[in-house]
This record gives sequence, structure tokens and C-alpha cells, in this order.
Amino acid sequence: MAKQIRIGHRYTRKKKVYLRGFKNNRIFLKMTNELLKNTLLRAIHSGAEILRHYFEGTFEIQSKDTLNNLVTEVDKKSEDAIIDVIKSEFPEHFILSEEVGELSTASNYKWIIDPIDGTVNFAHGIPICCISIGLERDGQMLMGAVFNPFMNELFFAERGKGAFLNNKPLKVSSNANMEIACLVTGFPYRWASIETDPIPVFERFVRLGLPVRRLGSAAIDLCWVAAGRFDGFWEYNLNPWDIAAGYLIIEEAGGRISNFKGQPYSVYDKETLATNGKIHDQMLELISK
Ligand code: IPD
Ligand code: CA
Ligand code: CA
Repeated sequence: MAKQIRIGHRYTRKKKVYLRGFKNNRIFLKMTNELLKNTLLRAIHSGAEILRHYFEGTFEIQSKDTLNNLVTEVDKKSEDAIIDVIKSEFPEHFILSEEVGELSTASNYKWIIDPIDGTVNFAHGIPICCISIGLERDGQMLMGAVFNPFMNELFFAERGKGAFLNNKPLKVSSNANMEIACLVTGFPYRWASIETDPIPVFERFVRLGLPVRRLGSAAIDLCWVAAGRFDGFWEYNLNPWDIAAGYLIIEEAGGRISNFKGQPYSVYDKETLATNGKIHDQMLELISK
């Protein structure tokens, strides 16, 4: 009898220890996520300050691989400011950023940064541009933010916790008919050097009489689908830094994102279709004709 009680007691204690460990782990993860979010927001605001400072002033502009694929000194300053904030908190984390490339480490956290998405707009004084930062943990997007400081619009999403615009919950549109959809797309600045010609697909949508916009910032395009302003977006040849944050913002706002075959999406894909979910298959059909 006494033995039974002892066994039961040990079991109970073990269970408690186990439960306490589990709870501690959850508290630890919650604290980590809060610190990550805090750092993400501090980083994006520090980049935004740089964009605001230079927007109406003068700055150096250079061409990259093609004449109109631009980089300005502001892209680099914004990138430095963002990376400084992240490194000050998490010096061991992996960074992938458009202008510096990979600052590779063995960490399971990877920050994917576009210090200005919409550089051509920025260089021409068009206030449709933003900073985009996505954060992967173990290869899965954990949180992301896109900030257009000129419209004061901060989009944010955390996996499983929803998407927000300036702290208000975001939801994709409810339109289920592609024929009355408002769409957005983009075209690569390196058309001559890539295989896919984006014009035939663009033409198919335009011939249906659909309004198709081209804003010049893929990250903003994605966020505006998440906000229900557009019903769908597609583009060839984007890079992970264009999409990392917007990808999660779309999903958390109830939208769908895939490649042009409708397969599950990766930010390292070269085909991006993001919609409210309801017109996704209709768009896929037209794209793959
Ligand atoms: C560009 C923008 C644009 C898209 C281009 C991207 P950048 O990014 O997102 O909308 O059409 O393909 O390269 O160069 O301004 O960071
Ligand atoms: Ca970009
Ligand atoms: Ca950029």
C-alpha cells in the first residue's frame, strides 16, 4: 500500500515538473516573441526615419544590374539602421537583406529585409514605397511588418495571431467573382535577362476589361490585398525580401498565396499569386492558359 502511494506521489511530482517545464517553455517563447516583435518594430521605425529624412532632399542614385533597377544611398542607410537594431538585440541571428546579401550564421532565426521596397518610386518622389521585414524561425515565417511612412500605414502579422493595419485587424475582400475584381501586378526591371514574358498574362486580364494597377512596390501590393483594397496580385521573379512580410500578412488576413500551379508557397519561389482566396482558382486558370 505504502509503495503504491510512493509511486503515485513520484508520478504526481514528475507530472508537476513536466507541466511546469511546459509552462515555462511557453512563457519563455511568449517573452521571446514579444522581444522579437519589439525589435522588428524598432528596426522598421529606424529605417522609416531615414526614408522620411531624405524623401524631399537630395541623395545619390545608382543603377544596379539594369539601368532602371535602382539603388540609392537611402536604401543603404535604411538597411544599416535596420540591421544595427536587429544585431544590437540578436547578434547571432541570420540576416538576408537586399543590398548587403546574406550575413550568414547558424541561427534558426532569419531576418529578411527590404530596406526600401519601391526604390524607383522613392527616387522619383512618389510616396508609394515602404520597408519590409519578415522573420523566419526554423524556416517558417513567424512575423512580418511592412511600413509606408508616407501614408503612415504599418502592416503587421504574427503567425496564428492575425494581421493588422495600425493595430486594427485586417481582412481580405469578400468578392468571389474575378470578372469584377480589382487587381494589381508588377513587372521586372530585368525583363531582357529573364525567360518569362509577363505581358501575355497581363494582356489576358486587361482584355477581360479588368482594372489592373501597378503600384511599384510588391510588399505594398500584398498588404493592399490583405486590406481588401485589391482582390488579387500576381508577379513573376520577385525576391524573398519583396515578399517575406507580405506573405504572412496575406495569410493572416485570410487570403491565399501560391505559385502559378496553385502549389504551397515559398518566399524563394519565382511565381507569386496572392488573392482573397475566393478568386484564386479563377486567376490560376487564366494565368496557366
Ligand atoms: C521592386 C518592387 C516592384 C517589383 C520589382 C521589385 P525594389 O523592388 O517590389 O514592385 O515589380 O520586381 O524589384 O527594387 O523597389 O526593392
Ligand atoms: Ca523590393
Ligand atoms: Ca529594395
